[in-house]
This record gives sequence, structure tokens and C-alpha cells, in this order.
Amino acid sequence: MEWLILSTVVVVVALAGLLRWRRPAWYWLTFGVVLATLRVLGRYSSVMDACGLTVPPPRWRLAIARMASRPVPEPRAPRILRLRPTRTGLVLRLGLRPGQDAFDVAASCDRLRHSFGMHGVASREIRSGVVELRMTGYDVLKRVQMPAGVERSTMRLPVALREDGAVHYRDYRTTPHALTIGATKSGKSVYQRNLVAELAAQEVALIGIDCKQGVELFPLARRFSALADNPDTAADLLDALIAHMEGVYQLIRAEQRITADTPDADIAADIWDLPDHLRPVPVVVLVDEVAELALFATKEEEKRRDRIITALARLAQLGRAAGIYLEICGQRFGSELGKGITMLRAQLSVRTAHRVNDETSANMAFGDIAPDAVLATVQIPVDSPGLAITGDASGGWARIRTPHTSLRTAVNACNTYAHLVPDLPGLAAFRPAVAPLVHPAKVPAPASAGSSATA
Ligand SMILES: Nc1ncnc2c1ncn2[C@@H]1O[C@H](COP(=O)(O)OP(=O)(O)OP(=O)(O)O)[C@@H](O)[C@H]1O
Ligand SMILES: [Mg+2]
Repeated sequence: MEWLILSTVVVVVALAGLLRWRRPAWYWLTFGVVLATLRVLGRYSSVMDACGLTVPPPRWRLAIARMASRPVPEPRAPRILRLRPTRTGLVLRLGLRPGQDAFDVAASCDRLRHSFGMHGVASREIRSGVVELRMTGYDVLKRVQMPAGVERSTMRLPVALREDGAVHYRDYRTTPHALTIGATKSGKSVYQRNLVAELAAQEVALIGIDCKQGVELFPLARRFSALADNPDTAADLLDALIAHMEGVYQLIRAEQRITADTPDADIAADIWDLPDHLRPVPVVVLVDEVAELALFATKEEEKRRDRIITALARLAQLGRAAGIYLEICGQRFGSELGKGITMLRAQLSVRTAHRVNDETSANMAFGDIAPDAVLATVQIPVDSPGLAITGDASGGWARIRTPHTSLRTAVNACNTYAHLVPDLPGLAAFRPAVAPLVHPAKVPAPASAGSSATA
């Protein structure tokens, strides 16, 4: 009998060790969550004391203890309001004691991480006197798996996982334009591809400019309303887009009809205020390798460059209300690319920086909004493509990583939703020419092996 118990224990311990090494997510869901909960609750008081997160007992308790000749009461740690296990870690909600502040807890996150044996600890203030500690049990960014059934809504898409295990969303209606930078092979195009695969299922027009001869975006052509693979076409495409934007503004104006008795909420100021049957489809413009659009060698090319940058700056300044959103990717995006670049950059409120080769590049993304994020960006290791720092104009930032979406997965998503490509008459000339979809069963086996990526 003893032998049986001993061998069961050995098997369970070996299984736990194996899971922890090879499948940390499964280990967390089976053994990790229970062990971590016991560890946090068991060590709570002593860890808080050691981290300097306790306050002396109130005077009245000391006085009562003195009068009753009882031992002096212990210093008090923040109250545990709630401990909630999640798919990737634990969420601990704390009620602060008088005299404590959220900054004390934030400053101790690294010490708490070591003391509780967790992979990461981040804190945020929920409301006055209440702080939430989000702890992760393992490195969730090592092998990114998006939670099943993650919520999606109009123009708000899950694009990556944050290091605290939360889902990172790209919300076009709150932050319309974005800039993604990173050194070569740092994961920019995979990030953009993942975004296209998510956008494909929405009622949205996709427009792509990919000056790497279209290698990244042309395989996804079936879901695109317009594509350009060289700066000349890009300049014409952007002009057509500005004409489209002006058309949308005319429509909004025609629908405004403000009279004294029109309720405030019914006055249309952007496409989302228009009734469903009149609302033009929103447009997402994806630009890969943006520097190609800004470089020039001849006078002619310089004129074209100015035309492109002016058009992009106009779209960034005026496009939001017309439902035009910019998603710009490049290796660097600084003033050395010439005039108009910093003005354009100032309009791109979501900044995402993958690994960069120098601090100057990181400054291009975060120098003007979150200086701490610059340091975090230059520390991204070479062996983790897709790992990025993201921030927005509010100064907050987070470490994120996109799931590794293969080109095949993105192509399949685009082909599946090819019927959602909207009709934009002004941009019809830029619609990519693609062969009609052939059902796999109808393709003769040997001949189809080398068929184009768009098939
Ligand atoms: N999120 C990710 N998870 C795992 N691997 C990734 C991830 N993102 C990118 N990679 C790997 O890194 C490689 C390079 O990625 P990608 O093509 O996106 O880089 P890039 O920054 O666009 O480079 P370039 O500037 O040369 O176009 C990919 O082929 C892929 O193998
Ligand atoms: Mg790329």
C-alpha cells in the first residue's frame, strides 16, 4: 500500500515538473493555481511586512492593549478584498490602510513578485483606497495563446496578449491612428497580418500600401478594396482616398439638418452618428514600410513624396470623423525622413515599438509620450520577435506580443470573408485583380501545387 502511495506521489510530481517545463499554461491550470493561491494566502502578512507595506496599529488599539495588559497589536497589512484565480495568474484586490498609497504598492511590485514566487506582478489603482495586483504564474508572452471566446465588437479587435495576461485591443473608435515601428525581422508585418485577419471579419474596407513589392499584403488581396505596391500608385490611391473622405463629409453635412428642435444626440458629427442605412463603411489604411514612401532620389520623386506625406497628414488630421483610420508600420519614423513626418507622427496616437537597434528609434515612438517605455523598448531581446511595447497618448504603456499568425492563416481568413469587400466607387481602379476563388475539391491535384498565394 505504502509503495502504491509513494509511486503515485512520484508520478504526480514528475507530471507536474514535466508540465511546468513543457506546457506552463497547463501546469498553471492544474497544479500552479492551487499552489500559488496557498502560497499567497500563507505568506501574505509576512511578505507585506517585509516589503514595507504595513502600517502601525491605530492609537486606540495600542491604548486598549496597554490598559488590558495584552500584547502590542501587530502592524496591519492592506486588507484582502478579493482573490480571483484567472487563466494565467491571480488577481488580488487590496483595500489600503490609512496612510498608504497606490504608489507604495506599485514600487514594491518586483519584491512581491519574488516573495510570492510569481512570474510577474503589476498593480493599478481601481478607485481611491483600492488597488489591484495582477499576478501572472508563468511567462504568458513566451507562447502566446489568445483566450477562447475573447470578446470582439465593432472596430475593437483583440490583437495581442499583455504581459499581465490581459487581452490587448486595438480600438479604432477611441484611438483612430497608430504607428508601429521596429528593426527588420522584429515582427511588424506579423502584427499587421494578425490585425488584417481580425479586421477581415468586420464590415470594413481595407486599403493596403506595401512598397516591399506587395509581398506582405498582396497574398491577402481578396479582402482588400485597394492595394498599391509602389509609391506612384500609392500617391494616386491616397488622392482618391481624400476624395472619398470629402464625399463622406458632404454626406454627413447633408444629414445634419440642425433645427432648433433637433436633440443634441441626433446631430451627426461623424459616420457613427449616421443612421445604419446611410453610414459609409469605415476604412482602415495599412501602410507597411512607410519609409519607402518618404525617400526620394530625383526632383520628380521629391514631388511625389511631398504629395504622399501631405495626403497622409490630411487623412490623419481629418479622417477620423469620416471613418478613415491609419495603421502605419516602418523601421524608423523620425524627422530624418523629411518635412511633414513629425506632424504626421503627432497624429498617430497608438504607438507600438518592436525590438529596435538604438535608443533614437525607440524615442521616435515614445520620446514624446512615455519616456519609461523607451527603456523598455531597447531591452526587448533579439530572440523574441513579436514582443513589443505599446503605449498611447495617456502616457501608460504595456509589454505585449501578438500570436504568431502564419501567412496561410491570414490568407484563409481573407478568403473566407472576401464577400465582405465593400463597393467603394472612387477606389475601384485600385482594386487588386485576383483570380476567382476555386474550391479546393475542384482543383486538379498536381497542377494546383504551385498555385499563387492568393488562391
Ligand atoms: N508574434 C510572434 N511570435 C513568434 N514569432 C514571430 C512573431 N512575430 C514575428 N515572428 C517571427 O519573426 C519573423 C519576422 O517577422 P516579420 O516579418 O513580421 O518582421 P518585420 O519586422 O516585418 O521585418 P521586416 O522589417 O524585414 O519586414 C517572422 O517570420 C516570424 O517567424
Ligand atoms: Mg515587414
